[in-house]
Amino acid sequence: MRKPFVAGNWKMNTDSHSSVALAEGVVSSSEKLAGHKVDVAVIPPFVYLQPVSKALSSSRVALGSQDIYFEQKGAFTGEVSAAMLKDVGCTYALCGHSERRHVIGETDELINKKVAAAIAGGLLPILCVGELIEQRKADQTAEVVMRQLKAGLEGLSDEKLPAVTIAYEPVWAIGTGLTATPEQAQEVHALIRALLADMYSTKLAEETCIQYGGSVKPGNAAELMAQSDVDGFLVGGASLKVDDFVAIIQAA
Ligand code: 13P
Repeated sequence: MRKPFVAGNWKMNTDSHSSVALAEGVVSSSEKLAGHKVDVAVIPPFVYLQPVSKALSSSRVALGSQDIYFEQKGAFTGEVSAAMLKDVGCTYALCGHSERRHVIGETDELINKKVAAAIAGGLLPILCVGELIEQRKADQTAEVVMRQLKAGLEGLSDEKLPAVTIAYEPVWAIGTGLTATPEQAQEVHALIRALLADMYSTKLAEETCIQYGGSVKPGNAAELMAQSDVDGFLVGGASLKVDDFVAIIQAA
């Protein structure tokens, strides 16, 4: 039985005051609500990880980073290592978010190194995959998602797969208000699980958490969650409002 997992990716939003206020709001409302039935994480900008970590301490809301670098230390200006992220209290690290793939230009090969470095450093990677609108229109969704998944997990052993969460985020649904229909989400989630079964085993595939992301809101979370292969959410915009984020956790 997979435990639902809801994470809020704050992207390049909040400031030193509002990041802490948002974290405190999530802690107080979500603890009352979901008990221990849903895993919850918040993913603030790097510069606010430490104050947010303090605000989350002694709560069951976990901390995640929006990115990670694969080297351990050294002359990599602007980059942040797994050890640094662990040091400030991170449990999770996003790898290959669509904005890093398509705005910053990250490749599958780089993302694969990040997934491996996160696990080696004791973090739990959330590997993001998803197709562009032109790829969906050209009927290439399965091909793109399978390529990203295979490349992202390249070289990862059976023992390490349980550390990984997969987030399916169709790029055309991110920040656009267009959500994949429950059927569209289920179709790709089932495909991802089938590929994991092929690459690893049915048992490991069944145990892997696959989140959906892309304009998730309180109003659409329950119907998405009702799909058999949707195990939770990676939430952008709606995670910046305590009430909306908590309503999504409740739906999960
Ligand atoms: P939105 O929920 O704002 O569409 O963003 C989704 C996302 O990219 C989460 O990582």
